[in-house]
Amino acid sequence: MSSNIKNICCIGAGYVGGPTMAVIAQQCPNIIVNVVDLNEQRIAQWNDPSLDNLPIFEPGLKEIVSKTRNINLFFSSKIKECIYQADMIFISVNTPTKNKGIGAGQASDLKWIEGAARQIQKYGRSGTIVVEKSTLPVKTAKMITQILNDSFQSDPNKRFIVISNPEFLSEGTAIENLINPDRVLIGGEESDSIYSLKEIYLNWIEEDKIITTNLWSAELSKLTANAFLSQRISSINSISALCESTGANINEVAKAIGMDKRIGSKFLKAGPGFGGSCFKKDLLNLIYICNYYGLNEVAEYWEKVLSINEWQKKRISKIILEKMFGTLSNKKIAILGFAFKSNTNDTRESPSISICKDLIQEGCKINIYDPEVNKKNIEEALAFVNEDLEESSWDFSNSVYEAATNADAILILTEWSEFKNLNWYEISKIMRKPSWLFDTRSISNIKNAQSYGINIWEVGT
Ligand code: NAD
Ligand code: UGA
Repeated sequence: MSSNIKNICCIGAGYVGGPTMAVIAQQCPNIIVNVVDLNEQRIAQWNDPSLDNLPIFEPGLKEIVSKTRNINLFFSSKIKECIYQADMIFISVNTPTKNKGIGAGQASDLKWIEGAARQIQKYGRSGTIVVEKSTLPVKTAKMITQILNDSFQSDPNKRFIVISNPEFLSEGTAIENLINPDRVLIGGEESDSIYSLKEIYLNWIEEDKIITTNLWSAELSKLTANAFLSQRISSINSISALCESTGANINEVAKAIGMDKRIGSKFLKAGPGFGGSCFKKDLLNLIYICNYYGLNEVAEYWEKVLSINEWQKKRISKIILEKMFGTLSNKKIAILGFAFKSNTNDTRESPSISICKDLIQEGCKINIYDPEVNKKNIEEALAFVNEDLEESSWDFSNSVYEAATNADAILILTEWSEFKNLNWYEISKIMRKPSWLFDTRSISNIKNAQSYGINIWEVGT
């Protein structure tokens, strides 16, 4: 399919910008795709000739980058030139929670969005279509349009059109989600620009999966989708605690309710609480917006989803302490998994961070092993929550066995498939006695561990 868009620029080479543009480049060989970032080190990693040092680990990403990079996909720090050349510009920058000023701790910090909009205003050509890819508070398109079209115009004839195209990919399955999405959502007020973007997606996505709405519905649908998904996790985690008190089993309950088509079986896995860069920040943002519009009851409703999540993490630390005779002092715990979920190296808001911090504060030593997260990332994540972190309070391990050696307990926090069928016979021999296994993801062969004398605890059972 031929498109009137020949040149795309994506501002932001992160978890969304990188994989999304790689897939567009792969599916649309006639379009030049430039991905730009202020972070030169990130760009250098994307350009690493060996492909083994890409800044993001995603199954299938390396293969796509290897076929498109420097053919029609380019990673670059030449922001000015790439913006100027573009017919369509995606804004895919970070939108974290504000940490100071009005709305601190809840509202989205839009300074990177404003920065990107100002760059487009300055270097972009009139008529360029600007696509919001980042997750944004409803009504942000109005602010972007004002920056682009109304204020400090160096050239009053320069006009830009803003449309919204939120991204629904999940980390770990990003490529699969981008190639075969449940839906593509395009919000806008101007049919030609909506069609230009739709035409790009039509290269590989069926038309009935591409839905169009007004701008505000598109922006709000993204926040709402993440709110509903995180609500399911808090719901199942709340019931996991009730299962533990009553003898019911959360996996059986999840199966039984999930077979009801109205409920559905996905996103019903109990765990240590949801992590990741978006659920918490997007819920906080939704809560802020509801309060802003005076909808305090609605805000309170969503606040509970967050507070149950914090409670679940604390609950797990408390269970470990209680089961291990009320003291962790001088004990050693092997942590299996530090990423917020499997198949990613991302540790942002990982429940592992706060659980590890709680354990360290109880005086135990932790040994962390994750198949994809390196020592530096763990160090940064732990230091971020605990400035007084003593170096001796944790160690990095290169394997399950290294972490488990002389450990009193093993704590599984990420559902990596490597942890499913561990050799509990061998592991029981290298652990201190009495030994414990805490499985917060309910993925290991827990009965087998028990048969070798390991005391077990599994979430929701
Ligand atoms: P990220 O932090 O990984 O990447 C953002 C990048 O933008 C950074 O590398 C940063 O240096 C760059 N940047 C910021 N301002 C810039 C500017 N003015 N010019 C050039 N580069 C600039 O963030 P991410 O995880 O890719 O998320 C981006 C957005 O997408 C967020 O709004 C997020 O909520 C949303 N989102 C994320 C996911 C996900 O799985 N991570 C999924 C869906 C939506
Ligand atoms: C989530 C959404 O699923 C994406 O649709 C969305 O685009 C993205 O946020 C975003 O806006 O950033 P992601 O955070 O990558 O994607 O990962 P999820 O698979 O949603 O998992 C989030 C957290 O919930 C993880 O910590 C995961 O372990 C946990 N989870 C998930 C459970 O505890 N149980 C489940 O059943 C599912």
